[in-house]
Amino acid sequence: MNLLTISDLTKEEIDDLLKRAASLKERHKKGIPHNPLRGKTLGLIFEKSSTRTRVSFETAMQHLGGASIFISQRDSQIGRGEPIKDTARVMSRYVDAVVIRTFGHDIIEEYARYSSIPVINGLTDQHHPCQILADILTIVEKKGSYDGLKVAWIGDGNNMANSWIEAASSLGFDLTLACPKGYQPDSGFLKRARSGSKTGIKVTESVEEAASGADVLNTDVWASMGQEEESARRMKAFAGYQINSKVLGLAKKDAIVMHCLPAHRGEEITEEVLEGPHSVVWDEAENRLHIQKAILERLMSVNSGD
Ligand code: CP
Ligand code: NVA
Repeated sequence: MNLLTISDLTKEEIDDLLKRAASLKERHKKGIPHNPLRGKTLGLIFEKSSTRTRVSFETAMQHLGGASIFISQRDSQIGRGEPIKDTARVMSRYVDAVVIRTFGHDIIEEYARYSSIPVINGLTDQHHPCQILADILTIVEKKGSYDGLKVAWIGDGNNMANSWIEAASSLGFDLTLACPKGYQPDSGFLKRARSGSKTGIKVTESVEEAASGADVLNTDVWASMGQEEESARRMKAFAGYQINSKVLGLAKKDAIVMHCLPAHRGEEITEEVLEGPHSVVWDEAENRLHIQKAILERLMSVNSGD
């Protein structure tokens, strides 16, 4: 089994992962060792920078008793043009699962086609499923459940937005995305996510519409990795799409503010809001570790039985 997008999981599988992550978190806090992946190795192939995804997966593997090997584009043969399909088959002979962070989603799909071990998406230009699972774990901790919540996405219709759309479609919470014209999620993708789902997934240009009465306010950088050259144009297009105290004031009194990080203070979010009492970004970052453990346990076919 692979985890390339949120839609690779059923609602039941997502709920199981959330429950398992919460239980593994509790166990970790109590200092109870849990080493079901002893003798297993995780490969991490990253073609883009990372702090959280890399460190949480490597630490998760260590906590679970296994080992990890990190390979960057710079020091592997991938950077010198070795085909993805060859890398996938070779890695399958060494390690037990891989996390890939790359550019186009077609690259990870091709990798997965040639891989005989589980492939986990550590971020592509189109999806960031592991981050959204950690985010939903955080929402469940703070709000008790995702049921009946109004989630707002403010900013770019990017990889994070796409994974939020798939999560809303599968789990059934209400999602409103406020994105400027030209930066909204792909309409074909939206149509597929909406079909067969009872969820309200709205896209608007109005920040006010998205933020009003929201339980969760969510944002991300205006220029993602690989879009550095578009930065100046994007800064102009996204002016007005910042989460600041005025926007926070439109949300529910007990709203939480989320950001996958890294954050650009003064751009998509103000320092005041990021560091303020509604922000849950540090718990959100911590939860990457706990959800990665649940993902690794599940994909590396370990039935720990406890
Ligand atoms: N949120 C996230 O994926 O962070 P990194 O880029 O540091 O892995
Ligand atoms: N949208 C951002 C997320 C970083 C974790 C990017 O792709 O750079």
